[in-house]
Amino acid sequence: MHERETTIVIFGATGDLARRLLLPALSQLCAARALPDTVRIVLYARRSYTLEQYLQEAEAEQRRQGQSLDGWERFCQRFVAYVQGGLDEAGVCQLQPYTQGNALFYLALPPGVFATASQLLAHAGLHDETHGFRRLILEKPFGYDLESAQTLDRQVRTHWREEQIFRIDHYLGKETVQNILVFRFANLLLEPLWNRNYVEHVQITAAESSGLEGRASYYDQAGALRDMIQNHLIQLFTLTAMEPPSSLVYDDLRTEKVKVLKSVRPIPRSAVNAFAVRAQYTAGTIGETRVRGYLEEEGIPHDSTTETYAAVKFYVDNWRWRGVPFYLRTGKRLAADRSEIAVQFKTPPLHLFRETPLDRLEPNWCIFEMKPAEAIYLMAQAKRVGLELTPRTIVLRAPYREAGQDGFDAYTTLLLDALEGNRQHFLRFDEVEWAWRVLDPILKAWQSDANPLPTYPAGSEGPPEAVRILDSEQHHWRPLKP
Ligand code: BG6
Repeated sequence: MHERETTIVIFGATGDLARRLLLPALSQLCAARALPDTVRIVLYARRSYTLEQYLQEAEAEQRRQGQSLDGWERFCQRFVAYVQGGLDEAGVCQLQPYTQGNALFYLALPPGVFATASQLLAHAGLHDETHGFRRLILEKPFGYDLESAQTLDRQVRTHWREEQIFRIDHYLGKETVQNILVFRFANLLLEPLWNRNYVEHVQITAAESSGLEGRASYYDQAGALRDMIQNHLIQLFTLTAMEPPSSLVYDDLRTEKVKVLKSVRPIPRSAVNAFAVRAQYTAGTIGETRVRGYLEEEGIPHDSTTETYAAVKFYVDNWRWRGVPFYLRTGKRLAADRSEIAVQFKTPPLHLFRETPLDRLEPNWCIFEMKPAEAIYLMAQAKRVGLELTPRTIVLRAPYREAGQDGFDAYTTLLLDALEGNRQHFLRFDEVEWAWRVLDPILKAWQSDANPLPTYPAGSEGPPEAVRILDSEQHHWRPLKP
């Protein structure tokens, strides 16, 4: 039987996301011979280009990124057309002849136009599944607070069914993030300890040394809480805290993640300061490089109060986690690039070592490191070699991949999933909604807070105020730079 053709239509084809991430991901799929032969690509954007020009620039970008050009010619053959058009009916209708079978519409567009684009596609009849599947991929951010996310969802779902909508969070396509699931549930080792009886607290960090990277206007509207915590860090949090799902198919995984969010203790607006900290970077030095402060960045209003650092604390009020704090933090222009989930275990009873140099032990940690290295490690105590019974911390470290072993980029994995209709690593609307729900009191309190914003120098570990949300004097933020 002749297999149906699938067309991927990239809206916003000349934008940063399409050029920097989507095209390299598709070319990686093609090079790995994982892109089905039936897949064709159509580019859609406002600017005037020929397909040849576009592909030449794409090739230059591929080179710039140091990506392999093996099979580039073959990849170029997948492109059917560059369609020039805006977000209006006449423009979008031009896509009809290219989308006769299955179609996947990737909205690599600013979030403000998701609703319009999804409606225009529907008005042109492109959501109709009579002749094949029709899927819509939406990028983050999905809304800018609870209410706007709900409105956007209503608008999109006027024409599209939930099963057709793929809300992307690229963290869910990362090998190291998918590994949290496997490592937790494919081993007997951790799960018996993964609860309030043994875990003291959990720290989830995504620290970046980079700044705005040309995205000032987006970032100044968003801030760290919306840009990173509402999506990526909350995903890491739910994967860490959830119960084992009954299967990895259908909606079981997503249901378990939502249950975690539903169990998060609501943060009273009057006590937001005990649960959340925000700050903005000032000028400083990263490595050897002097960098300017956020307010001096190009495109940022000199009186902006957007946070470039955010830290929050959650309690999950269920049987497994009651009383265990989960600390989440993220920031730009910090001392180092470090992303990790670090679980600190409680200290063991020490009576055996009373009155020896061992009477104070460092706790055990289990760490899923995503950056700078991709590794899992356990920190344990062992005896120092010598005559005395003194302890030292040993690190049992397993790198995630062998030297030279390449993995796939997050977008590569997710694009393939979307083509195959696998929604497990995409967000269901209630996940997005609950993520906004738990953060909404913080957003509201910050909006009406007239106090000066705390600051931190670029290149530092973050604002000193971040210790404010730690529950105990025994808890310390892990250093970003070891
Ligand atoms: C994006 C944010 O979603 O994730 C960026 O908008 C951030 O601000 C990026 O830099 C981080 O992604 P990664 O994969 O480099 O950790």
